[in-house]
Amino acid sequence: MSRTHTIRVRDRATGKIYTLQVPEDRYILHTAENQGVELPFSCRNGACTTCAVRVLSGDIYQPEAIGLSPELRRQGYALLCVSYPRSDLEVETQDEDEVYELQFGRYFARGRVKAGLPLDED
Ligand code: FES
Repeated sequence: MSRTHTIRVRDRATGKIYTLQVPEDRYILHTAENQGVELPFSCRNGACTTCAVRVLSGDIYQPEAIGLSPELRRQGYALLCVSYPRSDLEVETQDEDEVYELQFGRYFARGRVKAGLPLDED
């Protein structure tokens, strides 16, 4: 039996606070869904940063978070779709696209492309 930790998630978009019980060997996002809590996500495999949160306290383990730079991990960001708890945790959701812009915004600001990313048209 793996240990279970208590995770408090503050959803900044809605102001709601959720409390979840997540075993150490389960992804936090997936467990939240199983407990009826809907949090932002898109790719579910650690690439897109839609599910990023700031870790306010506690230890999180995210070996597959390929979409998050080591710098942002050091700053306390985590991708819930590929994160396991290693202690009780307190996290809050990001502002929209916050992590994406922290990660890529400066490259565009420095280079020749200043107008932002091209929009997908479908
Ligand atoms: S949902 Fe895409 S990184 Fe988590």
